[in-house]
Amino acid sequence: MPNIEQAQVTADAALHAAAEAARGAAYAPYSHFQVGAALLCEDGTIIPGCNVENASYGATICAERNAVAAAVARGHRRFTAIAIAGPPGIALGPCGMCRQVLSEFAPGGALRVLTRAADGSPRSTTIAALLPDAFGPADLR
Ligand code: THU
Repeated sequence: MPNIEQAQVTADAALHAAAEAARGAAYAPYSHFQVGAALLCEDGTIIPGCNVENASYGATICAERNAVAAAVARGHRRFTAIAIAGPPGIALGPCGMCRQVLSEFAPGGALRVLTRAADGSPRSTTIAALLPDAFGPADLR
């Protein structure tokens, strides 16, 4: 029987694979920089997202924010992890705007953020580490 660490590695690999698959749907005719994301909801549902660019460049939406929007539209607001897949050979981290949006749905900053190093090896961090001292819902109460 796999131990907890092995089960986590297997689950993370599945989330990476979902992000990689989502990357295939990316609409990036301007940057040619295709990104996929897979958001793991607390109930186990995986919601994909990809970047969708626009001829009016500023209207572009990143893969991570598209995944969050798709998840919320399906009634999911509690997430445990997100995997992000970019072009091979690049260590990709979520942009600042996406960090802020992910933080909105990550009380305590515990959301795990799974990426890959430039050599392709899996990396794991948290939204709290990526966006310390975040401004969030509690600040408006
Ligand atoms: N992009 C993402 O989708 N996610 C990231 O983490 C970084 C950047 C997209 C936005 C744009 O379509 C392209 O990558 C180049 O910036």
